[in-house]
Amino acid sequence: MRIIRAKDYKDMSEKAASIIWAQMLLKKNSVLGLATGGTVLGIYEILCEKYMEGELDFSSVKTLNLDEYVGLEGRHPQSYRHYMDKNLFEKVNILKNNTFLPNGLAEDLKRECKDYDETIRQLGPIDLQLLGLGRNGHIGFNEPDDHFEDNTHVRRLNETTIKDNSRFFEMGEEVPKSAITMGIKPIMESKAVLLAVSGVEKAKALKAVLNGPVTPSVPGSILGKHENLIVVADLDALMHVG
Ligand code: F6R
Repeated sequence: MRIIRAKDYKDMSEKAASIIWAQMLLKKNSVLGLATGGTVLGIYEILCEKYMEGELDFSSVKTLNLDEYVGLEGRHPQSYRHYMDKNLFEKVNILKNNTFLPNGLAEDLKRECKDYDETIRQLGPIDLQLLGLGRNGHIGFNEPDDHFEDNTHVRRLNETTIKDNSRFFEMGEEVPKSAITMGIKPIMESKAVLLAVSGVEKAKALKAVLNGPVTPSVPGSILGKHENLIVVADLDALMHVG
């Protein structure tokens, strides 16, 4: 495990973006595992800037996102498909057909989970998996539980997660209660994992991830077993870590 210490959110974003940038330089047709949420927004902003400056080429890149809300269609402003289109895909030269997210509107969600695993299998292993960290230690929407779930599955979101994510929704708008999420297996089979963490509210979860023990009650703690884990965290997030 390598821990890269960043001064603040901006510094964390720059350092994490530079790792993705390097990955894309090293392998033009990289398969990137991507996350959504507040933490990674700054990273995507920098990648878009680098693209505009002619430094990055997404034309052969393929992406697999971690998750999608159940019940939201791709055009819904809070869907993760919309988030990715708006914050990255529509701003760079990636081919839309090379971008994959689970379909939260699938009639048969079990089938959709199986199909997403098959897509991951065909494209994988993921070269670099970008992850944020939930306040409760979740990765993707693998929420605290009594076991790790290997494969793509539908997950009912914990109250803390629903509360945390409500900040992205309009007042009075209902936050979806469940999501389809990639399981732990493809994350652990990724050639490298880049965990981006910022802010005091993540400090406890980050400490549990970095110091262990590995337990499904802190899903991110499994990352301690990954051979090529890179953690980029700012000083606030690292406040409980020696
Ligand atoms: C989203 C995802 C989640 C977030 C996590 C942190 O695709 O996989 O695990 O990374 O909830 O979210 P933020 O960055 O908004 O605190």
